Amino acid sequence: MSVERSLVLVKPDGVQRQLTGTILARIEAKGYRIVELKLVEATREVLEKHYEEHVGKPFYEPLVEFMLSGPTVAAVLEGDRVIEGFRSLAGTTDPTTAAPGTIRGDFGRDWGEKVQKNLVHGSDSVESAEREIAIWFG
Ligand code: PPS
Repeated sequence: MSVERSLVLVKPDGVQRQLTGTILARIEAKGYRIVELKLVEATREVLEKHYEEHVGKPFYEPLVEFMLSGPTVAAVLEGDRVIEGFRSLAGTTDPTTAAPGTIRGDFGRDWGEKVQKNLVHGSDSVESAEREIAIWFG
């Protein structure tokens, strides 16, 4: 088994709702190491690179605007199978139906807006993690 790294974001809704500590505590309680951590105001340039695979999808522009709406916490996690492990901790994309016990399932829901405020992002593959860590941490 190989040690992986994953890029995790606490999105602006999570920071604004003061859930950063709770989310990081769940990550640490699971046993993953936080090896990089910073609070950032993401630029449109960074977000366009980060979400480039979604250009043209109906949620792309609202998602970028939402991510520009406030500070984000960016972290790099390290651990065995951390990519899959964090996505399991996060829960499925739609926060209203994400399983209880997950971050999105316990703290997220729809708020009557077209943007999905689902609190966190986690890399979905080793290749994405490498690309995303370079975008957010250089
Ligand atoms: S896809 O098309 O299956 O790849 O999409 P998915 O993996 O479900 O989601 C990709 C990212 O887009 C976000 N998303 C949205 N944001 C805002 N509004 C809407 N409606 C929406 N639908 C999907 C989703 O949270 C993913 O963002 P990240 O930051 O990767 O979690």
